[in-house]
Amino acid sequence: MNSQPDLSVDIGGIRLRNPVMTASGTFGYAREFETYVNLNRLGGIIVKGLSLAPSMGNRPPRIVETACGMLNAIGLENVGIETFIAEKLPFLQKLSTPIFVNIYGKTVEEYAALAERVEAIDAVAGIEVNISCPNVKAGGVAFGVDPDAAGRVVGTVRKKISKPLIVKLSPNVTDITAIARRAEAEGADTLSLINTITGMAIDVVRRRPVLANITGGLSGPAIKPVALRMVWQVCRAVEVPVIGIGGITTARDALEFIIAGASAVQVGTANFVNPGVTMDILTGISDYLEENGITRLTDLIGSLEVGLDR
Ligand SMILES: Cc1cc2nc3c(=O)[nH]c(=O)nc-3n(C[C@H](O)[C@H](O)[C@H](O)COP(=O)(O)O)c2cc1C
Repeated sequence: MNSQPDLSVDIGGIRLRNPVMTASGTFGYAREFETYVNLNRLGGIIVKGLSLAPSMGNRPPRIVETACGMLNAIGLENVGIETFIAEKLPFLQKLSTPIFVNIYGKTVEEYAALAERVEAIDAVAGIEVNISCPNVKAGGVAFGVDPDAAGRVVGTVRKKISKPLIVKLSPNVTDITAIARRAEAEGADTLSLINTITGMAIDVVRRRPVLANITGGLSGPAIKPVALRMVWQVCRAVEVPVIGIGGITTARDALEFIIAGASAVQVGTANFVNPGVTMDILTGISDYLEENGITRLTDLIGSLEVGLDR
């Protein structure tokens, strides 16, 4: 008898061998991590957010460490979709792990053009749409904070692609379930959350912001409780699978998200602290299942008990 637990999960039409994925922007284009991680053991890889044209991102300083986390204002620096296809994809397509391309645009039309381009790439398993970036036509307000704007992006991308569509939600909203429901209604197969929480840091000697961009996105263990709460809320509000993201550093962190209802998790900032952390998380999840006599990970998803009988 095979005593290894079955770690496979379904995220909106794609079966992953296990629930441990890497979060966009924290794992480069995967090759950077090949000496630390057996890339073929990962559940899925999400590459750095891509735009139509290459982007230099924001001016430095654009990263600062904070208590239990970091603030980044990278500004979505990336090589652009065509260079990605020419230079990064040949390595990625040799892997057996599903590759997801994360995209962002400043207009709905840019999202549509990117989605069409990615749809044509056989080696890409699915698309993750980052709706946390500024909508230039709406004066820089992020698409992801307005249900109508989010709905327009998701609906437009949905019409362009038949590949699985993951929509990545911003936490910088009052009610994340409103955006989640709209994304689902417009055809998202899966929701991933959360992106970074807007924050800032001040240099008191210079009395200036530490980041050239003034504000940045907070990530790492500091945001985990907020992310977990939002994942739990969204899992109760929608039918589609949810991927939990935010401060996941250990197997226990990942298990919290899964018990709250997430079908998979993405590991972000923790990769910077320990580039092999995804492998540790994977082993820890498997050990937990064995120790608790759980043969299939899917039995653990959403198993949170919220009754008063504690
Ligand atoms: C340096 C850095 C770059 C990031 N770049 C992207 C990106 O290009 N696209 C995206 O959707 N999210 C991006 N993120 C957000 C992460 O994918 C993730 O949602 C967030 O950091 C929360 O997870 P964590 O606490 O595990 O890092 C970035 C985060 C960091 C720290």
